[in-house]
Amino acid sequence: MADKDSRAGSRYTTPAILDYVNRTHAPHDAALAQAFEVPEGIPAIQVGPSDGRMLYLLMRLINATKVVEVGTLVGYSAIHIARGLAPTGRLWSIEFEPRHAEIAHANLAAAGLADRVSVLVGAGREILPTLAQEAPFDAVFIDADKVSYDFYGAWALENLRPGGLVIGDNAYLFGELTEDSDRGRAMRSFHEQVAAACDSVCVPTPDGLVVGIKR
Ligand code: DHB
Ligand code: MG
Repeated sequence: MADKDSRAGSRYTTPAILDYVNRTHAPHDAALAQAFEVPEGIPAIQVGPSDGRMLYLLMRLINATKVVEVGTLVGYSAIHIARGLAPTGRLWSIEFEPRHAEIAHANLAAAGLADRVSVLVGAGREILPTLAQEAPFDAVFIDADKVSYDFYGAWALENLRPGGLVIGDNAYLFGELTEDSDRGRAMRSFHEQVAAACDSVCVPTPDGLVVGIKR
């Protein structure tokens, strides 16, 4: 944050700058390139290379051993997270669409991470309660259906260790965060729950990334 315009929300980002910083700090190896490539018919809604790199660095910073991801898509963010885990670490990643989960599993296997990542197929609302037996977790990354962020946030805050991280993608809700809609209310409830239970920030990534350290 540098001047009046950028503090007010304008960005210096250009496609050329993004490409340069992604290539410099977050280059893709073969496994990341494969998982970033979303097959025909599957929405290309994965996080960007810099967001993925941030997830990796955050996992390393907290020496994460047990992590949950809600919303696998085809495994791009899961590869970043799993690579940041401590040597004995484990990631449970939940995906609603069986076809996405199948491709994610293949991408994670190609990355050599099949033994550290479990892709669980189903709705977060149903699968998360079954994971509570593995709590406490070091981090929970939420990147799934936006109308359920309040549920996912509450689960995360209940199942994280003190000092653990709750992280939420799309925290600006595609520009609709302050709108009077079900998902607007759910996303604002997520922000407010995290702020109440954590030392937190909404990092101004392209669509906002909430990061909270549970107190
Ligand atoms: C959508 C979902 C995401 O998590 C994202 O980062 C971008 C788009 C979507 O549902 O359209
Ligand atoms: Mg997202």
